Amino acid sequence: MKLTDDEKAMRDGAEGPAVAAAMDLLVRYGEALDCERLCDTRNVAGTMTQPSPAKTRLVKEGGWHKAFAVINLDCDEDIEIPDMRVPTCQLQHGFSGDAEGVVPYSKELIELQDDAEAFYGRRGVSILATCTPYQVGNLPVRGEHCAWMESSAVVYCNAILGARTNCEGTASTGAASLTGKIPCWGNHLPENRYGTHLVDVGVPVDDFLEWGMLGYFVGDLVQEDRPVITGEIGQPELVDLKHFGAAAASSGGVEHYHIPGITPEAPSLEAAFGPQPVPESVHYGPAQRLAIYEDLNSQGSSTDVDFVLLGCPHASIEQIWRAAKALDGRTLNSGTQLWIVVPRALKAVADRSGYTETIERAGGRLLTDSCPAMSRAAPTGTKVFATDSAKQAHYLPAILGIDAWFGSLEDCVNAAVTGRWTGGLR
Ligand code: F3S
Repeated sequence: MKLTDDEKAMRDGAEGPAVAAAMDLLVRYGEALDCERLCDTRNVAGTMTQPSPAKTRLVKEGGWHKAFAVINLDCDEDIEIPDMRVPTCQLQHGFSGDAEGVVPYSKELIELQDDAEAFYGRRGVSILATCTPYQVGNLPVRGEHCAWMESSAVVYCNAILGARTNCEGTASTGAASLTGKIPCWGNHLPENRYGTHLVDVGVPVDDFLEWGMLGYFVGDLVQEDRPVITGEIGQPELVDLKHFGAAAASSGGVEHYHIPGITPEAPSLEAAFGPQPVPESVHYGPAQRLAIYEDLNSQGSSTDVDFVLLGCPHASIEQIWRAAKALDGRTLNSGTQLWIVVPRALKAVADRSGYTETIERAGGRLLTDSCPAMSRAAPTGTKVFATDSAKQAHYLPAILGIDAWFGSLEDCVNAAVTGRWTGGLR
């Protein structure tokens, strides 16, 4: 791997042992991938504050410096962690104190996270605490090299913003935050950003539910490749593409895609495929749509719903507003809970706009910072849940051993109000 002079100096300890350990990690990571060089980044979205039993043990042994060295730098040495070198934000992590009494979640983990926020915040980690940093201030520009974790954020970053990131990990983002460098491979290279598969959509895809189902179909089809979507698609909104990407990164490992005329790197169908010829298309029609819906609803048996979850990836302010309108004047079933997971910054907007009050008057809750899948926590005794998120329908049954129903916002709110699942494909 070729290092520049400043990279060699960092590796050799000119900026202290923590930066040297970070550079050592990046070189090991890059060489394992036959990567030739590092690229500069000024945008890191990682995880420093996520609590865990292992972190509790490390903090007890050697404090937060030790925890960062082991978990975020893969280094056993006793080193002092300096300020972040480049802008760095914390993605989603555990639930915080304001979820106490609602979410069955350990007080010890909440306290550990509070301590972590104090330690890392003082070193320049912005505690955005959301899987959607692009909704609350971290909005990289086209072509910008980033080091982001979280599959739903990575695919949004690449496809919708046209910025460039691989799906990084806890250690590589930790090392990037102290160096401003990340191995230049995969999605950072222009030749790896062209489409590989063409999907021709033959049913109207024009709302949140439909975009999620299409994403789930596409992810399963292409796995880690790059789909190009054409056909009967309406003008998508942020929330539609947030759902599409998260679904495609759940049934597959999609990190980048194109929609000619919509996404920034595909002004035309031909441009989406670059030097390659446009391939034969794969059709997404009524039969494929029905099969996806049935697949996402294959983990539900009882129609008695005791938990409804909205807001994965973390809800936009528009989604919170829509939920408030759907719940206005209604009351949740006594045996059913409704959680909407949102970025903390947008909860502040929802509070001021009266949406939170409307949702809470109905019996629902807005929760920030985390989600049931991330923190492995649902209301005590949950057996059956309903969601409008293909990603949560994909993961939560396996994580928590519960049944799942997938449907529209209206289907989910009706389930919360009646305690019964009556959703269906229209
Ligand atoms: Fe975010 Fe949790 Fe979904 S972290 S993308 S709300 S699984």
